[in-house]
Amino acid sequence: MAHTHLGEMLELDAAVLHEYYAELIGWVGAQLPDRPHIVDLGAGTGVGSRSLARHLPAARITAVDVDEEMLAHLRHKADEEGLGDRIRTVRADLDQPWPQLEPADLIWASASLHHIGDPDTALARAYELTRPGGLFAVVELDSFPRFLDDPAGAALEERCQALLDAKRLEHGLHMGEAWGERLAGAGYAVEAERHFDLVLRPPLPAATGRYAEISLGRLRHGLEDRLPAEDLAALEQLAADLPHRTDFTVRTERTVWLARRPT
Ligand SMILES: C[S@@+](CC[C@H](N)C(=O)[O-])C[C@H]1O[C@@H](n2cnc3c(N)ncnc32)[C@H](O)[C@@H]1O
Repeated sequence: MAHTHLGEMLELDAAVLHEYYAELIGWVGAQLPDRPHIVDLGAGTGVGSRSLARHLPAARITAVDVDEEMLAHLRHKADEEGLGDRIRTVRADLDQPWPQLEPADLIWASASLHHIGDPDTALARAYELTRPGGLFAVVELDSFPRFLDDPAGAALEERCQALLDAKRLEHGLHMGEAWGERLAGAGYAVEAERHFDLVLRPPLPAATGRYAEISLGRLRHGLEDRLPAEDLAALEQLAADLPHRTDFTVRTERTVWLARRPT
């Protein structure tokens, strides 16, 4: 995979925040027809595709991603979980003309739209793909997970996240966008915008230590060129220590927009 540990981090995010995922998938799933066809845009390792398939036993899913390694991981996990016959993978770059896809009752795009170079063109294509009356769910991160509660650790995390936010903007990522307005601009009627302010305190799920280790490791690698040596060393030490510590929390914010193509 092109990004350090991205696939593993996506899986750990779903494992640690499983209650949030269950609520989200339950909420969106309850609004779908029987036997829906779902298209997952930028599916990654299939956290969304697989959760939707598990929750909706009659659903068929088309998982689209540009990264063949992600899709291979998705197929492997889907087969392992007995979902492989209902999840099809399609390799495609969503910034290029899209392949022919079956119309969707739900388009699901989780943490993927901000990667798209031209989101308005992608949303116009998605609109054409959505059945009249069908839904588009956009899930985006307002803030990446924070773990440290002590003042020095929390301040270090904030410094790092601010630097990474700046770096993402420099790289043209569409973070913090008004996705509701963009969905409306594409012709959808926005029915809900839900904000999830997630705070997990001990006892934390078993996967949390590894999740913190990888997240802090990614901060360190992403900021090698921007942080002073003492901050890099502190991050390295924290990443090594956290899997064995129990005195931290998980804090992250997500927003979900649910929009419908008018009939
Ligand atoms: C942060 S991951 C999110 C994965 C998954 N949706 C989830 O919630 O776990 C973003 C995914 O978007 C994919 N992606 C980025 N740009 C893309 C593009 N232009 N076309 C298709 N997929 C893209 C990446 O390969 C990656 O798998």
